[in-house]
Amino acid sequence: MVIETGVAHGGSLVMSASILELMGKGKVVGVDIEIRPHNRAAIEAHPLKHRIELIEGSSVAAETFAEVKRAIAGARTVVVFLDSNHTESHVLKELELYGTLVGPGSYIVAHDGAQGWVWDIPRAKPEWKDDHPLNAIHKFLAMHPEFKIDPHWTRFGITSSPDGFLLRLSDSEMSKGSK
Ligand SMILES: C[S@@+](CC[C@H](N)C(=O)[O-])C[C@H]1O[C@@H](n2cnc3c(N)ncnc32)[C@H](O)[C@@H]1O
Repeated sequence: MVIETGVAHGGSLVMSASILELMGKGKVVGVDIEIRPHNRAAIEAHPLKHRIELIEGSSVAAETFAEVKRAIAGARTVVVFLDSNHTESHVLKELELYGTLVGPGSYIVAHDGAQGWVWDIPRAKPEWKDDHPLNAIHKFLAMHPEFKIDPHWTRFGITSSPDGFLLRLSDSEMSKGSK
């Protein structure tokens, strides 16, 4: 099961659905605070719709999170991509909530940490300089030793999600790491 917060036009949702289709199993649950009618219509008409479930609501609202948990009930493996509101406080809340759904060996991926590095480019915002997902990632990791950054997926150094791939460790990996 894949959970993606932030659907917009559904591009990354369909990409996840296509990978699940190749694997022959699974579903992607897309959460967005506003799923515009034309985007919903396009996603619902897509040939991979059978691998997609849409949930409308703020990703950090209790009722939305309850819906997501219902949608993934019984899943053996859950991967989460966070790509909704990229403020530090929102991403930190998402990491706290959705991190609980990720089992050992799987990932929660917090996207667009590089926002803090591109605050001065066209169409960016000055407040991004200090308010970005990287801060949330590092705060979350300081409180959650059960997760660690996996540098493998960003090893070429070209990424908009630096330090974003957080691997959930098993209890034995955690105790090895602390020795
Ligand atoms: C960067 S876009 C998502 C792009 C998409 N993941 C892709 O790559 O195709 C961000 C989306 O997050 C949504 N969003 C903003 N705040 C949100 C919130 N509190 N909860 C859920 N979604 C939110 C916006 O409506 C917008 O559609």
